[in-house]
Amino acid sequence: MCGIIGYVGNRQAQPLLLDSLSKLEYRGYDSCGLAVGGNSIKVFKNAGRVEELRAASPLLQGTVAIGHTRWATHGSPSSINAHPHVDCNGRIAVVHNGVITNYQTLRQRLIIEGHNFVSETDTEVIPHLIEKHYKGNIEKAVEAALGEIEGSYAIAVLAAKDAKLVVARKGCPLIIGVSDRENFVASDVPALLEYTNSVIYLENGDIGVITADSIKITRDGIEVDRKEEKIFWSIEDVQKGGYEHFMLKEIHEQPRAIRDTIEECLSSNSSPVLGRNIENLSMVACGTSYHAALIGKYVIEELLAIPVAVEIASEFNHRRRQPIPTSTAIVLTQSGETADVLVAMKRLLEVARTIVVITNVPGSTATRIAKQTVYIKAGPEVSVAATKTFTAQLIALYQLILSCPSLNRRICKRLVAELRTMPSAVQQVLNNESEIMDCARILSQYDNAFFIGRGISFPIALEGALKLKEISYIHAEGCAAGELKHGPLALAHKDVPIIAITPQDSTYEAMVTNIKEVKARDAPVIALVDETDGIMEQLADFVIRVPHVTSIFSAVVNAVAVQLLAYYAAKYRGCPIDFPRNLAKSVTVE
Ligand code: G6P
Repeated sequence: MCGIIGYVGNRQAQPLLLDSLSKLEYRGYDSCGLAVGGNSIKVFKNAGRVEELRAASPLLQGTVAIGHTRWATHGSPSSINAHPHVDCNGRIAVVHNGVITNYQTLRQRLIIEGHNFVSETDTEVIPHLIEKHYKGNIEKAVEAALGEIEGSYAIAVLAAKDAKLVVARKGCPLIIGVSDRENFVASDVPALLEYTNSVIYLENGDIGVITADSIKITRDGIEVDRKEEKIFWSIEDVQKGGYEHFMLKEIHEQPRAIRDTIEECLSSNSSPVLGRNIENLSMVACGTSYHAALIGKYVIEELLAIPVAVEIASEFNHRRRQPIPTSTAIVLTQSGETADVLVAMKRLLEVARTIVVITNVPGSTATRIAKQTVYIKAGPEVSVAATKTFTAQLIALYQLILSCPSLNRRICKRLVAELRTMPSAVQQVLNNESEIMDCARILSQYDNAFFIGRGISFPIALEGALKLKEISYIHAEGCAAGELKHGPLALAHKDVPIIAITPQDSTYEAMVTNIKEVKARDAPVIALVDETDGIMEQLADFVIRVPHVTSIFSAVVNAVAVQLLAYYAAKYRGCPIDFPRNLAKSVTVE
């Protein structure tokens, strides 16, 4: 969703900011803008892409600036609603991520006091409030303004004539990038990678004043010390590296991401997340991470016989009754910033003995709430559609399960050995890309599709459908194959292809029956099958073979196959694969 970048130093800020804004595009946005400081503040914004902003904006001289990519919430994605927003005199500019919940009351009051508003946004109250409190010291004015604001924010404020930025966070991430005679602020790391790998994560309630060679952070008016940390991601990680899309690059990075995640988990010295005395488990997540959690449930219940409740975070949050007490809660969130997930974690704090988060982003908000963090080593994921973070989450879950002391040692040893072969199993799927492309070409010609699966393959059906709909805009549904006869079968006909996830496990016979049922109604069938399968060629119209692996690991190889299927279907339809319309990588609103 919205992204923030700010710069203060000795270089011309505008080109640098435009480059950083393009690194924030992956968050999802619909308009963007920047403000360059100096004796006066020059603001330029537009409804559209960063490249259009770059092409249209005049040269704005100045070495201190703020920029923003906006994902519309309050008001349409127009140039007027884009950030930065300014006060009445255009001398204070603000970029903001988050939602000001009491903005209507504040706006009415400010209008009565003579302030003039031009946009429909909640953000615009911030520069006006700062203006109201400004008596020569911008830092104090920001502090006073924030005292009146309810809701969540990460802000960067620029005042005319100042060679500094004032920044603050509450509920939304904000990172200071530390460099030599220049400093930065950003909502997330990729925007900074080209310039520095030293960062300071602001805490909720922090206010920072940043100049070219100083950083001062206060909380409730008292100066606080925040640690400088090193980021191990590199600029190459956020470049396409010869691939046409980030999504394809990230799909191909999976053998490496899986290998690194296995190593990370094995080298961790922390005590097993799943100890002997766990009576029950809760798992909470959204989107693709929710599908990883569903797979975790199947495997935990099968191998450890611990009952697991998996919930979508937004549903968990809106239930009135108190959550059921749980020994351990596992939260999955690749970004560590999904608003629904963070709210759920706060609720879980009341009922869970321990909360473990599985995430890809060091320093993210979820890691600050959780008692224990398991890092997946996917590296930065730019494409909105999650791919390598999904399979790396699965690997981290398998590791948690396999390190549980109550698991039979012999079974454990065999599974650990097989887990180590997953990078090459995934590589085999990638080597089969041309077969998957052929199926995707066919799939791309339809407007509707069903993914079906049973057991551990049901969440893969959900994930396949999610991937396909979000990037190719083909309407797709994931369905438990046993539920076909309770409704979806009414839609089975020659124009609705069925993608059947059919590993060689206990669900196979039932899946064969389901495939026969849809074939009898002329639905074209693409079957994802184990390489040892000898039957499906005669049944299905098209077959995608994946390497033979133990049932619980089939989710990984099938996940990669459905990712490629969705990617190429979207490519054949000419879709903007990395930045699907209306969607965002990190969903920071509830
Ligand atoms: C967004 C992203 C998805 C992601 C979901 C949950 O919708 O586009 O790819 O699965 O958020 O994100 P999280 O960071 O909590 O895993």
